[in-house]
Amino acid sequence: MNVCLNLPIAAATLPPETLQAPEPAEVPVPGSALSALNSFVQMTYGSRENLHMLYLIICVLVITCIYLSKERSHWLHRENKERVVIIGSSSGIGKELSLQYAKRGAKLILMSRRENLLKELTKKCLETSSSVNYFKGDITNEADLKGLLDLANEKLGGVDTLILCAGILSSSQFKEETETSLIQTIFNTNTIGPILAARIFLKALLVSKGNLVVISSVAGLIPAPTRSIYGASKAAINLFFNSLRIEYESRGLNICLILPATVKTEFRNSALDAEDNLENNKTFGIDTVKCCNIIIRSSDLRLKQVFIPVHYFAISLLEKIFPSVTNYFAKKKYGFH
Ligand SMILES: NC(=O)c1ccc[n+]([C@@H]2O[C@H](COP(=O)([O-])OP(=O)(O)OC[C@H]3O[C@@H](n4cnc5c(N)ncnc54)[C@H](OP(=O)(O)O)[C@@H]3O)[C@@H](O)[C@H]2O)c1
Repeated sequence: MNVCLNLPIAAATLPPETLQAPEPAEVPVPGSALSALNSFVQMTYGSRENLHMLYLIICVLVITCIYLSKERSHWLHRENKERVVIIGSSSGIGKELSLQYAKRGAKLILMSRRENLLKELTKKCLETSSSVNYFKGDITNEADLKGLLDLANEKLGGVDTLILCAGILSSSQFKEETETSLIQTIFNTNTIGPILAARIFLKALLVSKGNLVVISSVAGLIPAPTRSIYGASKAAINLFFNSLRIEYESRGLNICLILPATVKTEFRNSALDAEDNLENNKTFGIDTVKCCNIIIRSSDLRLKQVFIPVHYFAISLLEKIFPSVTNYFAKKKYGFH
């Protein structure tokens, strides 16, 4: 109370020059987080020059961190040292990935069931890579997976990147007559096989602080008619690998889940129960070379989840918020109106 009353009297007794308005202090704009931060840091660090220096240091640190985190992943392949194992490499995405990895000099082990195709591909990959071997095997067979790991240890001394690409399609409407063996085969190949492979290669990937790339599908996130069994088999691995990542991320293992929409491969021919419908008869999709460029880049950057094409991320969000909208378009697309 006293202080307030005395102020005008004190001002009147001061010489005129001291009455000039003081330099306006930087008052934070109410509600502006940046101004508040500005004044807080200014209070803490003193002069404006110090403050600018601090901002500069923070910017340099952030840019360096971003650069290092991206570059770290390129060190291996720059030195042509990346050891890559691809399961499901005889055709389609797996075949194109093998060729692209070979082109940049990665050391490869390729696995699938069709030996003649593997032999041919190995020969082609050897034109650009110094070390390519194949293993004829089935992802549903534990002994084959152990044999594959033994071969990788023997020929390459370990694994940096394991790519799980093996998969088969079910593309019919689910009916009373749907065979039990069909359901089991789809789940054994698309779900149990990749889980077994993850278990068998886990130790090797932890040693190398490697990368596990899983070729899943948007069908595992966005429901569609005639894809109930296939979609369910992919949804299961999405959750499995997203959980596994949380368990092992701190020990240096990255899991990169790839979620493609339709890719131009022979995949539809792998359907055990193909039926004539609007969607199954179409020939369209993402270019395989482009798709594999994105997959390799995503692996290099150690990304966690990648939609190909990227707008499927928005569609998957829409599916969560307004499922009736995506269901409507799925019905239309597959001729289920
Ligand atoms: N094409 C698409 O539109 C599309 C879209 C989304 C996701 N995907 C996924 O992408 C992956 C690759 O498909 P793709 O388009 O490249 O089709 P693809 O040309 O039919 O390739 C499938 C690969 O999986 C292998 N495979 C199948 N069953 C196997 C088993 N039991 N053990 C080991 N290998 C097995 C096949 O080799 P063998 O027959 O010689 O064993 C072949 O190399 C699949 O997981 C698929 O679900 C494809």
